[in-house]
Amino acid sequence: MSNHNTTQTQQAQSRKDIDLNGLIKQMTLDEKIAQLIQLAVPFYEGAVGAGQITGPMESLGITEETVHNSGSVLGMAGAQDVINVQRTHLSNNRHGIPLLMMADIVHGFKTIFPVPLAIGCSWDMELAELSAAIAAKEAAVSGVHVTYAPMVDLVRDPRWGRVVESTGEDPYLNSLYARAFVRGFQGSDLAGDMDKVAACVKHFAAYGAAEGGRDYNTVDLSDRQMREFYLPAYKAALDEGCEMVMTSFNTVDGVPATGNSKLMRKLLREEWGFDGILISDWGAVKELIAHGIAADESEAALKAIKAGVDIEMMTSCYVSHLSELVASKEVNEELIDEAVLRILKLKHKLGLFDNPYRAADPKREAEVVFCDEHRDSARELAVKSCVLLKNDGALPLSADRKIALIGPFAKNSDVLGPWSWTGSKDAAVTMEAGMRNRLGDAAELLVAEGCGIESATEEQWQEALAAATAADIVVLALGEHSDMSGEAGCRADIRLPGIQLELIRKIKALGKQVVAVLFNGRPLDLHGIYEDADAILEAWYPGSEAGSAVAALLFGDANPSGRLTMSFPYSVGQVPVYYNAYNTGRPQGAPDAQVRYVSQYLDIPNEPLLPFGFGLSYSEFAYSEASLSSETMTESDQLKVTVKITNTGSVAGVETVQLYVRDLSGEVVRPVKELKDFRKVELQPGESSVVEFVLTEQQLRYYHSDLAHESDAGAFVAFAGPNSKTNAALPFKLIK
Ligand code: BGC
Repeated sequence: MSNHNTTQTQQAQSRKDIDLNGLIKQMTLDEKIAQLIQLAVPFYEGAVGAGQITGPMESLGITEETVHNSGSVLGMAGAQDVINVQRTHLSNNRHGIPLLMMADIVHGFKTIFPVPLAIGCSWDMELAELSAAIAAKEAAVSGVHVTYAPMVDLVRDPRWGRVVESTGEDPYLNSLYARAFVRGFQGSDLAGDMDKVAACVKHFAAYGAAEGGRDYNTVDLSDRQMREFYLPAYKAALDEGCEMVMTSFNTVDGVPATGNSKLMRKLLREEWGFDGILISDWGAVKELIAHGIAADESEAALKAIKAGVDIEMMTSCYVSHLSELVASKEVNEELIDEAVLRILKLKHKLGLFDNPYRAADPKREAEVVFCDEHRDSARELAVKSCVLLKNDGALPLSADRKIALIGPFAKNSDVLGPWSWTGSKDAAVTMEAGMRNRLGDAAELLVAEGCGIESATEEQWQEALAAATAADIVVLALGEHSDMSGEAGCRADIRLPGIQLELIRKIKALGKQVVAVLFNGRPLDLHGIYEDADAILEAWYPGSEAGSAVAALLFGDANPSGRLTMSFPYSVGQVPVYYNAYNTGRPQGAPDAQVRYVSQYLDIPNEPLLPFGFGLSYSEFAYSEASLSSETMTESDQLKVTVKITNTGSVAGVETVQLYVRDLSGEVVRPVKELKDFRKVELQPGESSVVEFVLTEQQLRYYHSDLAHESDAGAFVAFAGPNSKTNAALPFKLIK
């Protein structure tokens, strides 16, 4: 504490031009190592143990000094709290090194946007970017410096709860979203724009490919699968300038990502040139022991630092063991200096040496968060994220009919979805509120819960049956509790809980038209809903404006335009089922296909119930005149694919025209379809538009068996249509 006064003086003046390498030279080894630990908020509020780290700090190798010298905080938000913690920290840190405040701001801060899987279904990069920009602005003014987002893991298995955090099963689309989110969070001038936060792309790598859809489980993919499907979105985020990367919990080719030098040092750092901060996921350094590649914490620390992990989140292997590893020369101190430098550089870039409180401002915070403008954007994106899965004419609703709103989500405010800890459920618009606002006070809306998410009482049943009997049409608000998806929210049975299926059956038995609105975090097995409901709107978790967005769609004030970015399986037995799969040598339906000896199930179809790219509208769109500019293309000549779309319906609507390609003579097998481009077109009733796509040779490249990224000369097919099932094939050849 002898330097206390000097520190205060140092802080008073701006340290914009600080020499970071010089600063590192002044730091002791223990001070440097302490920069590499990240602890949760309670450690800074005087708690002795918190989160995963339980028991007295001392027994974990964490002393008061460690906390005073630590580099970053997990989960801190709120302008005044951040200011207080930062101020105390600076008075305890002899070098006056500010803390980095990191938090999971995933789909909104106070204004909660739809969950990422829903945002994915909007196919709207501008709104996706805006949602991240608003999240960044609200978070920054509340004192956050770094967000653990975007999560860009490619997903194929709806049993995995974290599919809700991803934008889906397509590497091209996921990459576009990765870029859009990074642009939104970081902007173009992170150093100068205080409304921005640094982004941390996660979870590197291939976390979405966990075997059996069980969280944290083994991932084992070929290098080709990794490069073709799983890696592009992380790379896209980094190409957009994403400042940080988080490791994943899973193994990659036998080695847990957090201790995987091939993945982190060779691929991420050397091949991709990433020089930002690599942070472990929560507790993932210590988990190297449970995985079985480290006998103890010391070996876990050794493997993680060697792999290139700069910050250890929420365990203390580094602070407890790195100094002895340096003493024994197993770890070169330069490795530690490099990690510290990366951390200090980000602090410097964010302006923290100049103003350690950055944008944290309680007064402005009160004005900015959850303001009307932000809520309007959340509503717009929610409207565009919902997907109309079925409509036998029950929608749009007419306000003249007597409507009953029934189901566990009728009044429920659990509509924000996972990762909305900074949001307020109480401030969210429920289905009931949204529908009442839309209908006005004069209209009668019968409301009953019918059942909870997983159970019902006799009274609830009776109330629901009475409401349904009295109504002309029933809107059933059904779904999963938000804890049924998200981290560790995996399910082996992905139908709605049985009690809700029973509710549908009972209401349907009354002979009423039934519209199902679904609030959930994954593609569901829709058995029990699909047959019985006259219309189904997949609302996902729409966020703060849930009820108003859904009401606008139900009453036809807005026309549904969302398109699925993850297939809805026919049943869980098909999972994983995704559109960009390979053919087999014995596909169903081929001209010489046999009755039995083909690749099929005896009891269910091969096809998902609803494919990637699917979504209905209140308009009808007819496709015609699909054509190519030529039957051949070369490495220098582009190919134009044109198709005419006509709105043959009676209301204006937006169609998402999708371009797919199939390579028929690959060096290795190629997906039956790959999304290459898409266009959203808005058409008035009777209006047509000709959409033109340009295909280049670069878009036909993929990873060959030697990992060369090249195209194949030979036969291809292009498809321009409304979803990935489209069969209107346009053959062409690439001449090389
Ligand atoms: C999750 C990450 C998250 C981190 C910090 C982990 O359990 O896997 O996605 O960013 O916690 O909250």
